[in-house]
Amino acid sequence: MEIRSVKWLDYYVISPLINEWWGGRQMSDKLPKLFFDHFKNTSFIAEKDGKIVGFLIGFLSQTYPEEAYIHFVGVHPDYRKHGIGKRLYNEFFNIVKKNGRNIVRCVTSPVNKVSIAFHTKMGVFDNLKLSHF
Ligand SMILES: CC(C)(COP(=O)(O)OP(=O)(O)OC[C@H]1O[C@@H](n2cnc3c(N)ncnc32)[C@H](O)[C@@H]1OP(=O)(O)O)[C@@H](O)C(=O)NCCC(=O)NCCS
Repeated sequence: MEIRSVKWLDYYVISPLINEWWGGRQMSDKLPKLFFDHFKNTSFIAEKDGKIVGFLIGFLSQTYPEEAYIHFVGVHPDYRKHGIGKRLYNEFFNIVKKNGRNIVRCVTSPVNKVSIAFHTKMGVFDNLKLSHF
């Protein structure tokens, strides 16, 4: 499996998959194309044999110089629990550290128990805000 930076064309592959990957929740409108254009340096794709199996969209906060933010992370349902989400997070952590940031924030929904379990394991729970997102 390879990790690479996001490209704007990835939007057209990923956007139609999001609602399915999120278990039928209507989430794709929360990830417009601008994220694939303006956050390429801090957003990553996991690829296996040329197929996208995971992605992370994040950015460095414009407002808080110590902070970075993960907006979306998703792994293909058939490839979960194989460490892909963790690899994407580690890639993001490395880049934010290089940019002098030491706080990573994210928001997830209280209904998303898998996301809460994952973020707890990733050690970012203190900075995980639960909202109806
Ligand atoms: C959340 C998600 C990205 C996790 O990706 P993943 O590749 O399956 O996660 P990993 O295999 O890297 O797991 C990392 C850790 O989280 C734990 N974890 C992952 N899924 C879990 C689950 N369903 N229940 C409990 N723990 C879980 C793993 O056991 C692992 O712990 P470890 O480090 O002690 O081994 C994936 O389930 C997903 O895409 N869910 C749908 C989209 C979503 O809700 N995204 C998050 C909100 S933006």
